[in-house]
Order: sequence, then structure tokens, then C-alpha cells
Amino acid sequence: MSVPLKIAIAGLGTVGGGVIKALSSRKKALEAQAGRGLEVVAVSARDPRKKRDFEVQGLLTDPLALAKSDADVVVELIGGEEGVARQLVEASLENGKHVVTANKALLAKHGKRLAELAEKNNLQLKFEAAVAGGIPIVTTLREALIAHGVDAVKGILNGTCNYILTEMEVTGRGFAEVLKDAQRLGYAEADPALDIGGGDTAHKLALLSALAFGTAPDLANMKVEGIEHITADDIGFASEFGFRIKLLGVARQTAQGIDQRVHPAMVRARTPLANVDGAANGVMVDAGEAGSFFFSGRGAGEAPTASAVVADIVEIARGSFGPVFGRPAASLRPLVPADSGASQSAYYMRFEVLDVPGVLAEIAGHLSKANVSIESMIQRGRAPGEPVAIVMITHESPQHAVENALKAIAASDKVRARPCMIPMEAA
Ligand SMILES: NC(=O)c1ccc[n+]([C@@H]2O[C@H](COP(=O)([O-])OP(=O)(O)OC[C@H]3O[C@@H](n4cnc5c(N)ncnc54)[C@H](OP(=O)(O)O)[C@@H]3O)[C@@H](O)[C@H]2O)c1
Repeated sequence: MSVPLKIAIAGLGTVGGGVIKALSSRKKALEAQAGRGLEVVAVSARDPRKKRDFEVQGLLTDPLALAKSDADVVVELIGGEEGVARQLVEASLENGKHVVTANKALLAKHGKRLAELAEKNNLQLKFEAAVAGGIPIVTTLREALIAHGVDAVKGILNGTCNYILTEMEVTGRGFAEVLKDAQRLGYAEADPALDIGGGDTAHKLALLSALAFGTAPDLANMKVEGIEHITADDIGFASEFGFRIKLLGVARQTAQGIDQRVHPAMVRARTPLANVDGAANGVMVDAGEAGSFFFSGRGAGEAPTASAVVADIVEIARGSFGPVFGRPAASLRPLVPADSGASQSAYYMRFEVLDVPGVLAEIAGHLSKANVSIESMIQRGRAPGEPVAIVMITHESPQHAVENALKAIAASDKVRARPCMIPMEAA
């Protein structure tokens, strides 16, 4: 065997611990696949006294020391779009070390610049674990589905949101109650904002979009909406109409530009994405003449994420080199955004209204004025004096027309809460 690959690992939490365990428990098999030895020569974490369920020797508390070590590859598993993670990745690339990272926040914000730095120094910057955990979607978009181009990529990219929505559907409980349970069970962070607000999905979508369309990762041109406002009623109504509600990240090439958005969507019940349940992830790629491809599996957690990190390390050990985003970083174009307001979709709308004569006519009037026509409707009575739920599904309409109608409806004194509007995702 040739010279071993020397590996330094920064961060020994969920993912870092999983990487250490996999590299040690499957050492022989992985070395056989890499064609050379794989040696962990340095590790770092913040707290040297923390109890860990794996053996650690010579733990450093300054991750930046790894960039100056004799490692060939630095594995950044600390996290965060700035701070020490960014400093470490930059310093490692400047010091001639390949980098493997699972850090979607860092790459969504600084991906193009870091890719340029890596390529200038003839180094690898690999990030399979940054999107959808164990699902090899980064490699698939970068290396496999390239012959016919990609028209669209969409997916369930955040296990926390999918767990919450699935639990709400199965138990009929409300968002806040299920979120609390998810935190207790370790499916949601103590501060869940980045997950439930759609930010984490946005980071991942920015990377998928860059790989699919050859653009620089772009968070600025992305509409992002989370799941906080979804009610158990919405999920119940969705089911009556034959749909399930999922938080989707969608990136689509249109004639006008790229449409990137993160939002809850109504997904038809018997389609593959609708059946991604619990904390799992799922990604659908529409690869032109090659057809549609669907991937699903565990999108987070120790073993699935470590699986992706270790695969990147082995690729580097083999010496297989390619540009970070599948084409030279300098050629990544700025993203030209599509006008999302003009995009056409059918919509689910829910209104909480006073049960008084004329309310339905008023809603219908605003919709008709905006040229939005209704395909079906459900009206549910409640106890006397309580607001009534009116739910409508529209025919395909431009987003801005539906938004205008909803704005006018929300201003009515007969409407009790902000109307809810969820796009119906085709297939
Ligand atoms: N967890 C997942 O399922 C998952 C999935 C995909 C991607 N990722 C990404 O993988 C990365 C790591 O996530 P994780 O879940 O493994 O995080 P984690 O469990 O919180 O571990 C973070 C590690 O970084 C160390 N660390 C934190 N701040 C530090 C600092 N200022 N200086 C030095 N070390 C520091 C911590 O040290 P101590 O151990 O001493 O506290 C810990 O070992 C993140 O970018 C995350 O987005 C995670």
C-alpha cells in the first residue's frame, strides 16, 4: 500500500464521533477500498473533560492547530457559517490541506469563494454530508446526473420538520406540543429556529441548486417560509383532499431564471415525496431526458452523516479530483432569479371567519376580482360564536394573484386570523 492519508478531525460531537468510530471499526475494509492507510493524526474539540463513547488521544482544544498539523486532510465538523469553522477551512486550504466538511451553513454563504480557494491550491473541498445526511445526492448531482442536465431538484431536506409534520398527522396534535416532544426526544434542537423556520433547508437547497444549475450558491434569491403556522386542521384538511403537507426545498430552471424556494407544500398522497415519513429525507431530481430520480433515507444522525463524511475521505485518499461544485468555481454564474410571483400553482387556502351572512360571498368576490377560480371547498361549523373554517383549493393561478386576493380578504372584519395559503406541488 502507498503512503497513508493523514486525517485531522475538528469537532467530536454527533458527526465527528461517528466518523472516528467508523474509521476505527471498519479500518481494514476502508483502507482496502481507499488503496492506502487512513490514519487519524490529530483531533480537536472544545471541552477536553467531556466524556465521549470512543477513545480519544491527544485531544487539542484549538481547532486552528489542525490547519498547521502534518495532516493531508482536515475534516471540519464544528458547524456555523462564520467563526472558527470558517477560519479553519480557510487556513487548511491556504496551508495545502484538503478539506471535508458537513457544514451547509458555511458553504451556502461562502461556497464559491472557498471552492475558488481550494481549486487555486489544487485541493479538494468535499461536502457530501452537508445535504441530506447519508443520501449521496451531492455526488449524484456533481458526477452522475450530468448528461442531460437537471430541470428541477426538490426535496424534504430537514428531518426535524418532517418528524414534526408526520407526528402532527399521526396524532392530530398541534405544532407547539409536537415540537416540545421532538425536543425531548432529541429530534429538535433546544433552539429550533433554523430548522422550523426553513433556514436549514435553505442552506441545503442553495447547495443542490449550485450543483444542479452551475450557479454560485445563493441564499439571497430564495423565498423561505417555515412550518410554524401549520395547524393540525391544515393537515386534516390536506388528508381529506388526498394530500400531505411537507416542508419542501424546490429549485427549478425556468425560461426566466431559477426559481428557488422553501415552503410547506401540499404533496399528493401517493407520490414518493409524500411517503417520506418521520425524520427521513427525500430528494427528487428531474434530469431531463434521463427522467426523474428519487432518493430517500436518513438525512441526519451519527451513522448516516458519518457515512457521507467517510466516503469523502476515501475519495480523497484515492486521489480522485474534480471541481468542488462539478465545474470550475470561477465559472459558477451568479444566479438569475425567476419572478416567483409569476409562478403558477394550485393553492390550498384556509380562512377563519365569523359565521355571518355574506362572508362566503365576500371571499369569493375578492378571489374573482384577482382572477383566481376555485376548484373545491369545505366549510366546517364550530361551536356557536366560534370562528368557522373555510377551506378552498384553487385552480392553477399566478402566485401574486392569490397573494393579492388573500391580502384583501385578510383586511375584512369578518376574517379572524391571517389566512393560510399553501401551494399544491405537482407530482
Ligand atoms: N448532527 C447531524 O445529524 C448533522 C447532519 C448533517 C450535517 N451536520 C453538520 O455537521 C457539523 C457538526 O454537527 P454535530 O451535530 O456533530 O455538532 P455537535 O454535536 O454540536 O459537535 C460539534 C463539535 O464541535 C466542537 N466545537 C464547537 N464549538 C467549538 C469551538 N468554538 N472550538 C472548538 N471546537 C468546537 C464541539 O466540542 P465539544 O464536544 O467539546 O463540545 C463538538 O465536538 C455541523 O456543521 C452540522 O450542521 C450535522
